[in-house]
Amino acid sequence: MPKVTYIEYSGTEHQVEVPAGLSVMRGAINNAVPGIDADCGGECACATCHVYVDEAWREKTGTASTMEESMLDFAQNVEPNSRLSCQLEFTPELAGLRVRIAPDE
Ligand code: FES
Repeated sequence: MPKVTYIEYSGTEHQVEVPAGLSVMRGAINNAVPGIDADCGGECACATCHVYVDEAWREKTGTASTMEESMLDFAQNVEPNSRLSCQLEFTPELAGLRVRIAPDE
């Protein structure tokens, strides 16, 4: 099964298998990756699933929707590669994806 590497803000890496079709957020929650809280359950309404997409993966992950951009406006420490991981659907093309978890909001 394809894997995603989640990197805690401290640098600790977690490599987990994520089934295609799940969000990158759900892959973290299902595998108890610390740092992604997902308080709103994936409704794009909390920004506690904020991650930074590794530069090498930015093109493949595409751009944030208008709704996601609006929510990111309320997040802290936003960078050009910021995404809400609940809005990132994991597909086979994203096998090997690396995301760094944003510091606590
Ligand atoms: S889980 Fe709330 S915005 Fe992603």
